[in-house]
Amino acid sequence: MAEILTKSRARNIFYGGSLFFIVIFIVLTFQSHRYIVNVSTAGMPLSDAVVLGKRVWERHSCINCHTIHGEGAYFAPELGNVTTRWGVQDDPEGAFEILDAWMKAQPSGIEGRRQMPFFEINEEEMRGLAEFFRWADQTDTQGWPPTDAG
Ligand code: HEC
Repeated sequence: MAEILTKSRARNIFYGGSLFFIVIFIVLTFQSHRYIVNVSTAGMPLSDAVVLGKRVWERHSCINCHTIHGEGAYFAPELGNVTTRWGVQDDPEGAFEILDAWMKAQPSGIEGRRQMPFFEINEEEMRGLAEFFRWADQTDTQGWPPTDAG
């Protein structure tokens, strides 16, 4: 009886199969990068203010309590959609003012309410944070979060 899976056939299946899936992997990687830049986050340019805001967000480890698009800690509200909830998604000045007022009023000291610390953040950085939140908020998250506050 002839051998069906000869050594050379097995080798060809192995190399051919590997190559096939490596090509698919590379194509999907490019597709993801293009999609992220051109579609899912393209609603607003990645300005210097947005970049500064992201750095401020990282420096103060806001993510230790908050989530952004579901990533982070579950102690405090989701912030990926905070400018929509506050009604300032298309209003840079309004976003800055409401965020600035909120940040300066912390900790609220209200009995029975979770507390957020006070952060030393200057005006330029606060504007950056507001722009970062507006930028994050126009990301196409395909329905996330399922409820408004994450
Ligand atoms: C120690 C935990 C903690 C850290 C760190 C923290 N927060 Fe908060 N944050 C909270 C809590 C708790 C609330 C909700 C307070 C309330 O509702 O009274 C909150 C609320 C907020 C809100 C209002 C959300 C809403 O839906 O009304 C914003 C905006 C916010 N935080 C921004 C930030 C930013 C920016 C940073 C980093 C500079 C930060 N937070 C770091 C705990 C934290």
